[in-house]
Amino acid sequence: MKFFLDSAHVHEIEHALNMWNLDGVTTNPKHIQASGKPFTKVIQEIAALFAGTEKTVSVEVNPHLATYEAMVAEAEKLAALSPNFVIKLPATEAGFKSIAVLKEMGIRSNLTLVFSAAQALQAMRMGAFYVSPFTGWKEANGEETLDMIQDIVTIRDNFGFDTEVLVAAVRNGRQIVDGATAGADIITAGFAVYQEAFDHPYTHLGLARFQSFWDQTPYE
Ligand code: E4P
Repeated sequence: MKFFLDSAHVHEIEHALNMWNLDGVTTNPKHIQASGKPFTKVIQEIAALFAGTEKTVSVEVNPHLATYEAMVAEAEKLAALSPNFVIKLPATEAGFKSIAVLKEMGIRSNLTLVFSAAQALQAMRMGAFYVSPFTGWKEANGEETLDMIQDIVTIRDNFGFDTEVLVAAVRNGRQIVDGATAGADIITAGFAVYQEAFDHPYTHLGLARFQSFWDQTPYE
């Protein structure tokens, strides 16, 4: 199971690479805007952190683009900036078509804004490198997500698609575990989500207790 960081903050990515054995990064227009830097500058800064590795950085095309020709043209420009880039495309008819065209060109795609197994199936049929079902958004809307992830993994395995299932918009440790138990390949979550998921109050309580026993015991 791979852990990606959903962020465009270079300091967060550096910390996750150094301390968490991070496997990759996903960005979106929200994260890019939050970085406070121009789009091209920040994606190149992130790419530099992964130069010479096989790890991927997902970068989204301009969300205003409506035709596959325009999406493919922008994807080609972005992919030329770094061999680590995987191009995020929306789960629209033009996005699906772009996946297939880009695959022919040797450019990897990440189908984003996926909210159903049917959308994921079409992405896999068209040759997506990653498919990104959004759990957090669905759960905020009162919808289940575990069944959807299980269905996507089952469909992928039934037909032998080589697409990796990337569970996105993950908001807590339970959703990370849901992705893992459902057999997804990758989780992407924000910095604070991982920090909280890796932590537990009993760990600190237990550490304090053990420190107290340690302090009351001679070493030799
Ligand atoms: C995934 O690739 C997306 O960038 C991300 O998870 C979208 O949701 P969020 O920004 O609301 O977390």
